Amino acid sequence: RAMTAMAMSARPDLIIFDEPTTALDVTTQVNVLAAMKTAVEEFNTAAIYITHDLAVVAQMADRIKVLRYGEEVEEAETQEMLSNPKHPYTKSLWAVRSIEKPAETTEDHILAIENVTAAYGTVPVLHNVSIRVPRGKTVAVVGESGSGKSTTARVVTGLLPPSQGRVTFNGEALPPDLKSRKKDQLQRIQMIYQSADTAMNPRHTVRDIIGRPLEFYGGLRGRAKDERVADLLRMIELDESFMDRLPGELSGGQKQRICIARALAAGPELIICDEVTSALDQVVQEGILKLLLKLQKDLGVSYIFITHDIATVEAIADEIVVMWQGKVVEQGLKDMILSPPYPEYTELLLSSVPTMDPGWLAGAVEARQALDMADEVGEA
Ligand SMILES: Nc1ncnc2c1ncn2[C@@H]1O[C@H](COP(=O)(O)OP(=O)(O)OP(=O)(O)O)[C@@H](O)[C@H]1O
Ligand SMILES: [Mg+2]
Repeated sequence: RAMTAMAMSARPDLIIFDEPTTALDVTTQVNVLAAMKTAVEEFNTAAIYITHDLAVVAQMADRIKVLRYGEEVEEAETQEMLSNPKHPYTKSLWAVRSIEKPAETTEDHILAIENVTAAYGTVPVLHNVSIRVPRGKTVAVVGESGSGKSTTARVVTGLLPPSQGRVTFNGEALPPDLKSRKKDQLQRIQMIYQSADTAMNPRHTVRDIIGRPLEFYGGLRGRAKDERVADLLRMIELDESFMDRLPGELSGGQKQRICIARALAAGPELIICDEVTSALDQVVQEGILKLLLKLQKDLGVSYIFITHDIATVEAIADEIVVMWQGKVVEQGLKDMILSPPYPEYTELLLSSVPTMDPGWLAGAVEARQALDMADEVGEA
């Protein structure tokens, strides 16, 4: 919002927004979108809004232009483009999130986070957090920026020992600190991060990157190791020609696939995915999500899937955990969490997810004001 105000203070004729809300969680995004839209209208400025989020486009744009490989695919009025895309590529963009996975669960839990309280130094961040992960299923953890999602992952992986509570894996309490964990305990829980760029050493080839856990956990060397790397590449739908590439020679989606292969190389039972698709466009996201689901089906691996994208959650989750200010607001089957009645915060979170309806933003802002007013009345 401050950046928009600064840009506006120069009284521009044209303002270019380049993915300005991509890093924000949905509840914050609503306010920022509304602020930008108002500013553009008040100053009567022309604007170009660049994004891969189609629902955001629907809120912000009068006209939409679709680009692919540096070329224009099509251009039309927003309403026309949304209801009647002409080009097959545009249709494919509109059709993403085609994944529909019925939610399933089991009472057999591979992981249980029990009453965990954790702090960075003296700053408390997690308060009495309990989360259970059913074996072979996916638990999505949602909540706004700073709600403690990544911190929860750090407690599970042993990077941040909790001050209270414990984590059990296959019924056995895990040593709180990474350094006290046995090799097989480390092996069974792997993590994939949002930024595939910083997660890989830029000087290591794909062969080295995937080979390292094979050697460390599996004791593989030489031919046997290379053959397994090739297997893993096939599993993530890339071929052997990728073996000798460096991370810099891969697309964002390919990098993330390599990170998935590296996690699989360890032979994990649980993979924690922290915002693994946030930096990717929607078509590539869809590919990665489908791949993760296929791997779950073939290998029986369980996922903790951290994201603030509700459409992703709808696509892949079995259970959902809603976090807010370091606490778990609720955990339950996807269908239960995503249907009313909602606790107040879940309601706010869900109502903050943009839809393809161009009138959505105005409605969301109104609902938010009503909620704020109710709060004030409540407090008074
Ligand atoms: N290394 C750190 N040192 C101190 N405080 C931290 C550290 N990492 C995170 N925090 C704080 O802990 C809180 C929870 O952060 P966390 O990273 O778990 O949030 P998150 O839910 O993953 O958010 P996001 O969606 O933005 O990734 C925040 O208030 C954050 O500022
Ligand atoms: Mg995080």
